Amino acid sequence: MAKAFIVGHPVKHSRSPLIHGHWLEAHGLEGSYERIDVAPVDFGDFLKSFPARGFAGGNVTLPHKEAAFTLVQRRTQRAERVGAVNTLWVEDGVLWGDNTDVLGFMAHLDASLGTGWEQDVDTALVLGAGGAARAVVAGLQDRPLKRIFVANRTLSKAEDLVRDLRRHSPVALETSAWEALGRVIPHAQLIVNTTSLGMAGQPPLALDPSRAPPRAAVADIVYVPLQTPLLAAAAAQGLRTVDGLGMLLHQAVSGFQRWFGVTPEVTADLRALIVADIEG
Ligand code: ATR
Repeated sequence: MAKAFIVGHPVKHSRSPLIHGHWLEAHGLEGSYERIDVAPVDFGDFLKSFPARGFAGGNVTLPHKEAAFTLVQRRTQRAERVGAVNTLWVEDGVLWGDNTDVLGFMAHLDASLGTGWEQDVDTALVLGAGGAARAVVAGLQDRPLKRIFVANRTLSKAEDLVRDLRRHSPVALETSAWEALGRVIPHAQLIVNTTSLGMAGQPPLALDPSRAPPRAAVADIVYVPLQTPLLAAAAAQGLRTVDGLGMLLHQAVSGFQRWFGVTPEVTADLRALIVADIEG
């Protein structure tokens, strides 16, 4: 019986146990997926000890993603690019780390917009410059776009992101000052919010999607609420919208596959389960 975990501090609000629990049941597997709360000071010891405790691996959430990046023995190229690890497993005695947020965001974008969406998009605008922005940019960089702008309230963080990621792809990667967003929006056929603005309890993102090109797509990685003020404004303009929940669901696929040996699907039933939890 395979066992997996999500490790964080705090971890009780994570919805990953619902996702993996649903898949374990759907596939008739006897495994388990547990929440484990580990303080930062104990995280290194936890990584050393989990295989002996019978775990095949697990997910890593705040505040451990950067520490996991440093402490694993091998990393995928994706994780290397993002600088953070959210999925762990042991292979031939070696502790591996991946960043499946990259896969999750791109899989959800493809599912929502239809494969080949890049044909209508030459410029993308990513708002934010934290770990989530790095995962989004790393995914978009592998697609045939002309340029990606990164805009962040703190410009120096956008500059760091661009400096770190630029060399991985021929797609032009540039910063935009937060105050100059209005000049970029009319050129951006894809706009992605990775900031926490628009999340329940936070102010909305002050961005007017009516200035975006007519067939633009607007994605938000915030999923509480499911329809953020940004997505509502974009939908009201007739723009295509991509919500944040799909990224969470799709990022879980590859971990489940590694720990339990079955490739699960992101179904309408799974989505409904998580929506009910968010709205309940
Ligand atoms: P994550 O790992 O989820 O990306 P993070 O590293 O804390 O989280 O990043 C949060 C992002 O939201 C940052 O880009 C942050 O901007 P700063 O770098 O300037 O802090 C952005 N953000 C949070 N609150 C914001 C606000 N009130 N206005 C504009 N941007 C905000």
